[in-house]
Amino acid sequence: MTVIRNFRRILHGGDYNPDQWLHVPGTVDRDFELMDEAHCNTFSVAIFSWAQLEPEPDRFEFGWLDDIFERCGKSGKKLFLATPSASKPAWLAQRWPDSCRMDRDGTRQRWGVRQNSCFASPGFRERVRLINRKLAERYADHPALGGWHISNEYHGECACGLCRNRFYDYLKQRYGTLEKLNQVYWSAFWGHTFTDWKQVEPFDHSMDAAALDWRRFCSDAVVEFFQMEIDAVREFSDAPVTTNMMGLFPTLDYWKFAPLCDFICDDCYPTWYDGDTEREAAWLSLLHDMHYTMLDKPFVMMESCPGIPNYKPYPKLRRPGEFEREMLLALGHGADGTLYFQWRKGRNNCEKFHGAVVGHDGTDRTMVFRQVAAYGEKLERIAGLADAVKKPEAAVVYDWESNWAFEQCNCAGGKEIKQWDATVISHYRALWNCSIDLAVIDSEQDFCRYKLLVAPMLFMFKPGVLERFRSFVEQGGTLVATYFSGYVDENNGCFLGGNPGGAAGRELFGVWSEDFDGLQPTTQQSIVWKGKSYPVTDYAELLHAEGAEVEAVYGDDFYAGTPAVTRKRAGKGSVIYLGARTGMEFLNDFYGALLKESGVEPVLAGLPETVRAARRSAVSGGDYYFLYNLSNQAQPVKLPEVMEDVWNGGGAADAVTLPPSGATVLYRA
Ligand code: GLA
Ligand code: GLA
Repeated sequence: MTVIRNFRRILHGGDYNPDQWLHVPGTVDRDFELMDEAHCNTFSVAIFSWAQLEPEPDRFEFGWLDDIFERCGKSGKKLFLATPSASKPAWLAQRWPDSCRMDRDGTRQRWGVRQNSCFASPGFRERVRLINRKLAERYADHPALGGWHISNEYHGECACGLCRNRFYDYLKQRYGTLEKLNQVYWSAFWGHTFTDWKQVEPFDHSMDAAALDWRRFCSDAVVEFFQMEIDAVREFSDAPVTTNMMGLFPTLDYWKFAPLCDFICDDCYPTWYDGDTEREAAWLSLLHDMHYTMLDKPFVMMESCPGIPNYKPYPKLRRPGEFEREMLLALGHGADGTLYFQWRKGRNNCEKFHGAVVGHDGTDRTMVFRQVAAYGEKLERIAGLADAVKKPEAAVVYDWESNWAFEQCNCAGGKEIKQWDATVISHYRALWNCSIDLAVIDSEQDFCRYKLLVAPMLFMFKPGVLERFRSFVEQGGTLVATYFSGYVDENNGCFLGGNPGGAAGRELFGVWSEDFDGLQPTTQQSIVWKGKSYPVTDYAELLHAEGAEVEAVYGDDFYAGTPAVTRKRAGKGSVIYLGARTGMEFLNDFYGALLKESGVEPVLAGLPETVRAARRSAVSGGDYYFLYNLSNQAQPVKLPEVMEDVWNGGGAADAVTLPPSGATVLYRA
C-alpha cells in the first residue's frame, strides 16, 4: 500500500508554515503557484501552530487551515497534518506551570523554545488530547488529508515529582518486589540497599542498572505519550500516523516507536564537506535502510534541507550533483518521498537563515529553487517506484539499549574511543561499499531471513538473543560479532562464566575473551589476516579459541601470535568473532571476501571504485537501479545489461555517465 492511500506518487514537498505569513498579502497565493512550479505534492502543516489554532483556551480559529486544506484539495496536493504538541502556547504554561519540565537539579524550566513539555503533566495531556481531537474531528474526512504528523521530533526528559512517581511505578512493574530490585541492582555495592521504592535515585551515576532503567523509562514515556496522541486522533480519523524520527538520536529507542507508526519518517541533515563523502553517504544509507526495515516497507524522508541548515560549522553550499544524490540515496534505500524543512524561509528568529525552497527573495530564480523544481519534475518519471520493495539478504544490528549499556561501561575509556555508533557505521559501510541490499535491525528480530548477520559491539545480550543467533547459524547463516559482545545482560549485569555471553555464548562462539587491552594512539598493534597485516586501534581482546578455528592472529606485543579473529562452524553456518578494532582497509577486505563466500550478491556487479548502487523492485514488475557517484569527477559506468535511463529520459542504454557527485536512476523490466 502506498504511504498515502490511493496516492501513487513519490512524495515531494515539505514543512509548510503559512500561519507565519497570514499578515503578508499574496504570500499564500504565490506559494501555491511556486509549489506547482516545483512539482511538489505533499506538505506538513500546523507543526508549531497551536497558538494560532487556539489563541486562548477553548477559542479555536481554523479558518487559515481550512483555506490551506481547500487549496490543496483543489490542486491535488496532500497534507500531513501535525498535532501541535511540540510547541505549547504561552497561555498553557501560565495556566499549567507543571507543563514545563524540571531539570535534574529541581529547577522548573521557563516557557519558551519548543519540544520541552513534561509528558506527565495532567494539564498538558488534557489540552493536547483536546486540540488533537478538534483537529481530527474537523479534517478527518477532508480529501487532502494524507496522514498525521504526530508532534515533532519528540525527545527529552523531565525530573519533576510526577515523572519520578511514574518511574517508581515503572520499577514496580519491572521488578515486582524491592528484594528483586535490590538483587538486580547489586545494591550491596557501596551500601545502596533500598527499603522504599522512592529511595531509588535515577541520577546516581554509580548505579548502572538504575541509569539504564531511567533511560528506558524516559524513552518509553515518550512512546506512551505518542500513543496517547494517536488515540485522540483515532477517535475520528483512520488516516495513517507517523512521527518524525531523528536518525540515531541517542536517548530514544526508536525500535519501540516503530510499531505505533503506520509509516516511518525521518529527518536527515547530512554534511557534504570535502572530507569523507563515502562515510557520510554510508551513514545516510544506514539510516534509510533502518527506516525501511522498521516496518519492512517504504518510509518518508520527512525533513531534509534544500539549502544549508543554519547550524553547520561550515555552511558550505552543495556542489552541483550533491542535492540530487542526497535525495536519490533516500529513494534508492527505500523512501517513497523526500520532503524539506522548509518550504519558505521565515523572516525572523533563529531559523531565518536556514535553507528553504523559497528564500527571502520570494522567487523561483535561486539555485536551490531550480534544483528542487528540476528534481521534482524528474520524480514524475519514476512514479512507478512508489511502493517498490527491497530484498536484503544481509543485516546489521543496531540496538539502542546495547549502546546505552556500553556508554555506562566504566572501563572502556572515554567517548573518544568508545565510538559505538561509528563502529556500527564502519561495519555497515564496508558492506555498503559492495553495493548489496542491506537491512538494519535490532537484536530482537528474526534473523533467519538473512544469509549474513553482522552485530558490531553488541555489548548487551538480551534474553533470547543467543538462542536466535544459534538457530540462525545452524540453519546456514553467517554471524559476525566483535570485541565487546555479550558483556552484560538486559539489566547491565555482567555475565558470569566469561565473555562473550557466559558459558552459553562461549560455546556458540567457540571463543573465550579473557580481557581487553585499551590501546593508546602510540601503541603498536596489528592483526595478520590471510598473510596481510592490518593496523589495530583502540581495543584488542585477548582470545582463547575453544572449538573455533583461528583466522587471524595479533602481530605485536606480548600477545603476538594469539587469536584475533576466529570462526566456529555450527550446523550449516558459522560464527566469526573479530577480537579487535581495525580500520576500513581490513573491514573492506574482510567483508568483500565474506560476501562472496556467503552468496550475497551486489545489486550491480563490476562498478567503478567510486560508484555505489541500490535497487528497488517495483510491485508492477521490474527493478529500479540507483547509481551514486562519490567522486567529484564525471564517472562513466558500463552496465552489465541494457537498461532504460528513466531519470534522464534517455531511452535504452548499456552505459551511462554520472555527473560529478551526482546520481541517476535506471529501470530494467
Ligand atoms: C578507592 C576506593 C575503593 C575503590 C577504588 C577504585 O581506592 O577506596 O573503594 O573505589 O578507589 O580504584
Ligand atoms: C528539525 C525540526 C525542524 C527544524 C529543523 C532545522 O528537524 O524538526 O522544525 O527546526 O530541525 O534543521
